[in-house]
Amino acid sequence: MKILRLLERKQIHQAAELLINSSHAIALTGAGVSTESGIPDFRGEGGIWEKYKPEIYGNIKSFIKDPSKFWKLAEKVAPKLFTAEPNEGHYALAELEDMGIIDAIITQNIDELHQKAGNVIVYEVHGNINRFTCFGCRASYTKDQVMRKLKKEKNYPPRCDMCSAPLKPSVVLFGESLPTFEIYQSQALAEKSDVMLIAGSSLSVDPVADLPRYTLSNGGKLIIINEEPTYLDDKAEVVIQHKTGTILPALVEEIKKIKSMREPTESPEEE
Ligand SMILES: NC(=O)c1ccc[n+]([C@@H]2O[C@H](COP(=O)([O-])OP(=O)(O)OC[C@H]3O[C@@H](n4cnc5c(N)ncnc54)[C@H](O)[C@@H]3O)[C@@H](O)[C@H]2O)c1
Ligand SMILES: [Zn+2]
Repeated sequence: MKILRLLERKQIHQAAELLINSSHAIALTGAGVSTESGIPDFRGEGGIWEKYKPEIYGNIKSFIKDPSKFWKLAEKVAPKLFTAEPNEGHYALAELEDMGIIDAIITQNIDELHQKAGNVIVYEVHGNINRFTCFGCRASYTKDQVMRKLKKEKNYPPRCDMCSAPLKPSVVLFGESLPTFEIYQSQALAEKSDVMLIAGSSLSVDPVADLPRYTLSNGGKLIIINEEPTYLDDKAEVVIQHKTGTILPALVEEIKKIKSMREPTESPEEE
């Protein structure tokens, strides 16, 4: 296990206690949990996004004006997204669901790595890169169909076989509204949760950045694991400024340790 300072060990212990004692904990994740899988976040230094501002290239208005521009960027980003594998942080979150510690994950990520790692209950509030929809007739395409199309037709943007409108990945672009059901469900879950474990999010993209407030306003507690400070740090019970790929597995280990110490030891006479 990676070397952690005494302070972080203490914080991990505190977070583990909160989670063990919770009844309805959930996780809220952002791009930070996937950087250790090789997918850059929006706000990191030196990343692809410095050159291609997501607010411009990933804006619905730009897509409508010139979908080929969007697809040129997609071509640069897609290989990393499509070949990425879950990291230790993703696997730790899958274990937390498996252990019954968290009920669900709300994620801003579009990379499907939580599902790949084994999480079952995942709400993708910003969509998913592996599905594509026709911008005209809403016909749905898989990633493989679109890849085959691009290879065969060499046409940017790829167009719908039915109506010739450009195809768009089923991700929420800047300027688009979020999927109604997912956001409604996320708000309900955030309201109900007594502990929200926030991992790898700058908490700066609305309306997701607001979800922890639903938890706080109902007396729930926040655990924040993020390399940078967030606007909710002073409202959180535990804040760990470190890599999610290191802290989340350590948190799982700590939970297991505490639980095993509390399990009643069976005495042979009672058998
Ligand atoms: N993997 C993906 O699917 C992906 C990648 C890039 C952007 N996005 C989109 O970016 C938008 C921005 O919001 P966001 O909050 O998700 O991302 P963000 O880029 O705003 O913030 C990511 C945060 O994670 C922190 N971070 C980076 N690596 C970390 C690590 N290993 N451990 C701990 N913290 C780490 C950064 O300091 C930053 O504060 C979202 O809409 C999301 O859909 C998704
Ligand atoms: Zn169509």
